[in-house]
Amino acid sequence: MSSGYKLPSQVQLLHQTSQLKGLMTIVRSKETQRGDFIFYADRIIRLLVEEGLNHLPVINKAIETPTGSKYSGLSFEGRICGVSIMRAGEAMEQGLRECCRSVRIGKILIQRDEETHQPKLYYAKLPKDIASRYVLLLDPMLATGGSAIQAVKVLLDNNVKEERIIFLNLIASPEGIASFIEQFPKIKIVVGEVDAGLDAAKYIVPGCGDFGCRYFGTD
Ligand code: URA
Repeated sequence: MSSGYKLPSQVQLLHQTSQLKGLMTIVRSKETQRGDFIFYADRIIRLLVEEGLNHLPVINKAIETPTGSKYSGLSFEGRICGVSIMRAGEAMEQGLRECCRSVRIGKILIQRDEETHQPKLYYAKLPKDIASRYVLLLDPMLATGGSAIQAVKVLLDNNVKEERIIFLNLIASPEGIASFIEQFPKIKIVVGEVDAGLDAAKYIVPGCGDFGCRYFGTD
């Protein structure tokens, strides 16, 4: 991240520990082979999901422990679901399942239209009751923000409230964050690292290359 960049209040950066930096170093290196890429990307995804869950509302819950003592605890208030932006976002589904047993996961496919060059919705399959759930939106790379913005429009069209969406990314560009929050100022973005910017091909730099291809082993 450039030193002059001020993180918008909607963005929750993961705690910048040496462990996270080490994981990012492996995931970003062009020398990293696919098995390691998957393993270490999964570890970052797990951190993102755990942090994302911290942004859900909770209610007080008192319980009794086996010692007969009272414990003043908490319980999540609402129900959640995941929505992955295909294809790279599908890599984040397992991390969500590991934290939230039998979580429902919808999918949205957006691709650039060959003629208009605009992001176009090709497919969406969402839980029927999504409007009553908090949504963890999954996409590892927030580059221009085009697909993410389209995906959120699909969620809003399905009556999901903006403030009930939490967007999880491993790496984001300042440009992507700016475009996204300009349209959806109430959505919380949880991100591993924010990079310097985009190159001419709209890849994040320094980035990690094409996340979907590296994770799924395609070119
Ligand atoms: N998607 C990727 O996989 N990588 C980028 O750098 C940008 C978008």
